[in-house]
Amino acid sequence: MTDSPLSRRQLLGTAAFAGAAALLPRDLAGQAAAPAPAPAANGFVIVTSANGLEAAKVARQALIQGKDPLDAAIAGVNVAELDPDDVTVGYGGIPNEEGVVELDAAVMDGRTMRAGAVAALTGVKTPSRVARLVMDRTDRVFLVGAGARRFATAHGFPDEDLLTEKTRKIWLHWKNRLSDLDDWIEAARDAEDPDVKRFLEKYGKGLFRPQGTIHLSVRSAKGDLVGVTTTSGLFFKIPGRVGDSPVVGAGLYSENGVGSAGSTGRGEANLVTCGSHTVVEYLRNGLAPEEACLRALKRIAEKTHLVPRHRDDKGRPTFNVNFYCVDAAGRAAGAALWSGGKYVVGDTDGVRTLESAWLYRKDA
Ligand code: GLY
Repeated sequence: MTDSPLSRRQLLGTAAFAGAAALLPRDLAGQAAAPAPAPAANGFVIVTSANGLEAAKVARQALIQGKDPLDAAIAGVNVAELDPDDVTVGYGGIPNEEGVVELDAAVMDGRTMRAGAVAALTGVKTPSRVARLVMDRTDRVFLVGAGARRFATAHGFPDEDLLTEKTRKIWLHWKNRLSDLDDWIEAARDAEDPDVKRFLEKYGKGLFRPQGTIHLSVRSAKGDLVGVTTTSGLFFKIPGRVGDSPVVGAGLYSENGVGSAGSTGRGEANLVTCGSHTVVEYLRNGLAPEEACLRALKRIAEKTHLVPRHRDDKGRPTFNVNFYCVDAAGRAAGAALWSGGKYVVGDTDGVRTLESAWLYRKDA
């Protein structure tokens, strides 16, 4: 692990973290996989999830052109929202169990401490833009379901079909295989469909029930901190299920002078621990970004012990959560419960993918 300006030894020596030190895994120093990006006090810094490479490029160009950091962040995630090949976000996201695509998104502006969010929104490819309008054009923070849809319609968003031919086939395959006790029957050739095959290869045999998302935080050249998180949520979810992504404090949290953080992964684990807020609180207390993310993940791992069905035979979580954060000085980090994760950083030098730090090695 690259030493941060405030080293781990210094941090753990402070009164604030003397107690927390006991919670750290014994071999924490071996768990960081990526060198922390250099501080960029005079430049902007973008941090985003692994699926945010193109988003980071677009946000970077916008920031170079002098655009507002929240506009730049939203323009970035719009790339993923509009991409039918990203089945975890926006248009072409995996639908709920009834075949309906329900989207969640939130934005937060650390300059004003204002936020906007939508959940279970249907028919809008870019829910992050609707979340921005909730922030800018109402005195409220969070609209859901039919109310969010009507608000989007009022602001000129057409009601579009978000299910692509690819995701319809994937959903139908899932539905047909769900049970032998219902009327839906799988045809032998279904699993031979190239779209279904690719989906099953990528998501079908992992450790975890998949849920993807994109989070993108920006620390502008002026030091302003903003974030956006947007998702189609858990694959084949119960209609109306909302994860952490649109919940301020869980799926994202941005506060000028401290930091901006966001998450991807099992939303329920992050909802009950208010993960992104926890990361920023650790930054406020002096931890370096990577330490802050790892400490918040440790909190999740500890709370997992309270629910046996979420633990494997070694007591480890049977799901993943990833955090991404940037602090007020422009230091960025990404960390996950499980090894193998990646995150993306963009700054004046360019855009690059880095390995996330982690708490548990996947093959151990
Ligand atoms: N983290 C995305 C979700 O759980 O919906």
